[in-house]
Order: sequence, then structure tokens, then C-alpha cells
Amino acid sequence: MKRKLGPTERIYPMPCPLVVGGTAEEYGALAVAWVGVATATPPSLAMALRRTRHTLELIRRTSTFTVNIPATALATQVDFCGITSGKGRDKIAEAGLTTAPSSLVEAPIIVECAYNLECRVTHEIELGEYVLVIGEVIESHAEESVLDESGTKIDVGALDPLIYIAGSREYRSLGPVVGPAFSMGKALRPDVED
Ligand SMILES: Cc1cc2nc3c(=O)[nH]c(=O)nc-3n(C[C@H](O)[C@H](O)[C@H](O)COP(=O)(O)O)c2cc1C
Repeated sequence: MKRKLGPTERIYPMPCPLVVGGTAEEYGALAVAWVGVATATPPSLAMALRRTRHTLELIRRTSTFTVNIPATALATQVDFCGITSGKGRDKIAEAGLTTAPSSLVEAPIIVECAYNLECRVTHEIELGEYVLVIGEVIESHAEESVLDESGTKIDVGALDPLIYIAGSREYRSLGPVVGPAFSMGKALRPDVED
């Protein structure tokens, strides 16, 4: 028997990257779980930021931001960046994290996050209490230690990305592999083309 839970934005799981705005001299970061893929072509991400976020002000200065994927080992640092405002203080340094220049955008990356995406803002949409910021990903890079044998793709097991669960408000890690995508479904009708 299903029970109605009312209108909700909660889907499971949610990623929980650190999003950085600003410049090498003045930067800020926040934890963002209300983020996801907007489109694949062009590669773009969308995130919902409350208007009051200091990092939103910094993102607007350069119209760029970086999305930095933390491992589960960084949960405490991510949470810290999600519960303290960076206005007037270097929250990233206080969390024991360091920044480095991006290759194409003004907003820096976070060194301790193994996978980083550099984005240029393409749209800002006012939505209720939020601003939906959409950014085109113009470069990405990753530590070799989180790449698969081909050296071109992320090995998510090695990346061990931090996951956020809305509702219970807890951080989790990925579970085991279930099976190959774009392929398992053929068990139901082997003549299906990719
Ligand atoms: C797990 C988690 C997820 C969060 N997701 C978002 C989000 O998607 N959008 C948002 O505006 N704030 C989100 N926050 C809150 C901001 O990270 C937090 O208010 C932060 O202190 C803002 O920092 P700033 O004012 O320096 O930008 C989240 C916080 C946590 C702990």
C-alpha cells in the first residue's frame, strides 16, 4: 500500500559537491545538493541556490563557478562548508581545504576534490526562493588515481563520491554495481538495438 507524501523535490540519491565562485584572490564555496545534469549537449549543470548565499554573489562577479566532487572522507569538511557562511572569512582554509587556479575560468578549484568541473554561467532563472543557475561545463579534470584503465573515464569506485540523502539528512556512499546499463534490459527482448 502506497502512502501520499505530498509535493516534494526529494529524489534519491543527491550528489553533494562543493561549488566555488569568485577569483584566486577572493573566493567562496558552499555545499550544493540541489544540483544535477541540465543537458549533455552542450554539457551543462543546473543548481538551485538561495538568493542569500554569499557564494552566489561571488559567482555573479565572474559568471563562472567550479563543481568539485568530494570523496566520502571529506564529509566533515563539506558539511562545514554547508553550515557556515563564507562572508568575511576564508571558509575553505578553515575547513583545511586548498584552492588552485582553474584552467579556463576565474573561479578556482578545490585541490582535495579529485574531480573538478569548470563552468561558465549561461542562464539564471528566478524560481521561488531560489535562483536556478545553469552553467556550461567548459573543462573538467581528475586525479589519475580516480581514472579507469583507459585513463579517460572516471572510476566511480575510486572517486567514492559523497552522497546526500534529503529527509534523513545524512551522507552516504555508493553501493555495489548492479549491472551494465544500455544492456541489461535486452534480457527482456534480445532483438532491442542500442
Ligand atoms: C548537505 C547540504 C546541501 C546543501 N545544498 C544547498 C543547495 O543545493 N543550495 C543552497 O542554496 N544551499 C545549500 N546548502 C546550504 C549552503 O551550503 C550553506 O547555506 C552555506 O553556508 C552557504 O555558504 P555561503 O553563504 O558562504 O555561500 C546545503 C547545505 C548542506 C549541509
